[in-house]
Amino acid sequence: MKHLLYLKELNQRTILKLLAKAETFLSTNNFPPPQDKNLQGITLANLFLEPSTRTRSSFQIAAKRLGADVLNIDEQHSSRTKGETIIDTIRTLEAMGVNYFVVRHKERGILSKIVANVDLGSHVINGGESVDSHPTQGLLDLLTIKKHKKGFDQIKVAIVGDIKHSRVARSLAEGLATMAVKTLTLIAPEEFKPDMKFYPNAEHCKNLDQGLVNADVVVALRVQRERIESLTETMSPDHYFEKYGLTMKRLEPCNDDVIVMHPGPMNRGVEISDEVADGANSVIREQITNGIAIRMALLSMMQAEVMK
Ligand code: CP
Repeated sequence: MKHLLYLKELNQRTILKLLAKAETFLSTNNFPPPQDKNLQGITLANLFLEPSTRTRSSFQIAAKRLGADVLNIDEQHSSRTKGETIIDTIRTLEAMGVNYFVVRHKERGILSKIVANVDLGSHVINGGESVDSHPTQGLLDLLTIKKHKKGFDQIKVAIVGDIKHSRVARSLAEGLATMAVKTLTLIAPEEFKPDMKFYPNAEHCKNLDQGLVNADVVVALRVQRERIESLTETMSPDHYFEKYGLTMKRLEPCNDDVIVMHPGPMNRGVEISDEVADGANSVIREQITNGIAIRMALLSMMQAEVMK
C-alpha cells in the first residue's frame, strides 16, 4: 500500500478495509473529524496527462479534506511541453517536497517505470494508465456495489459496451474477481470484445437482452472514440444506441432491484438514455460521491502506514 498501481495487487482483506474506511468518511458526508486529518504537512500532485474531471477533482478534494496541500500540473502549461520527461517532472516536484503523485498517462507500463525512479518516501497512485488500469475507479465501483447489494458472491454484474478500450472495466473485473463475484458478464459487439485472458472468470455475450438476464448490477461504458482508429457502422451513435443503448425497456430482463452504474463521462443517447441515467435505478451520481470517500480512505491508509 505504499503505491497503488493495479487493483489485482490488493487482497480481499485490504479491499474490505478500504471500503470500510470509505464508509466511515461517507457517514460524515466526506468531511472527516479532526483526528482523521492525517495528511497535514503533506503535498499531493495531480499529474494528469490525459483529460479528467472526476478522478482529478476527487483526488484534490480528498487530499484537501485530509489536510494536504494539492498541486495540479496541467500538461499544456507545464515544462513537459519543452520536452521534460514525466520522471524528471516528478523528481523536480520531489525536490520541492511533494510526497504523493497521482498520475494519469496513456503509455502502458509508465506507472511501474515511475515507481522504479521515485524517492523512497514518495507514493505513486495510478489515476488511469493506458486502456489497462484505473484502480481507484474499480474501488469506488466496488464500494457502490457493496452499499446496494448483500454480497459479491451472490450477484451478477454485467458490463456493457466498449470493454476492449476500457481501463475501468479491467480494474473493476480485477476487483470483482478478488471479491469472488458470482457472475461477471461482458456484453459487447465483436469490435469491443476484450482479450478474454484479462477476464478469466467472465463470460462474453454479444446480445444485450440475453446478457442482462437476472443482472443485479449493470455498468454502462462510453465508446472511447479517441482510442479507435477506424469506426465501423456498429459504432455509429444511432446504430450503437439501437443495439447496445440502455433504456428502461432494455433493462426489463434484469432483476427488479438492479442498479445502473457508469464511470463517466456519459454520452447520453449513445450508451445510455436520459431515463436510465437519471432514473430510479441509477447510482451514477452516488459513484461520484463514493469516489471522494474511497480516495480519502486510500490516502489516509497509505499515510497511516508511514506514521506507524
Ligand atoms: N471515471 C473517470 O475516470 O472520469 P474522469 O475521466 O472524468 O476522471
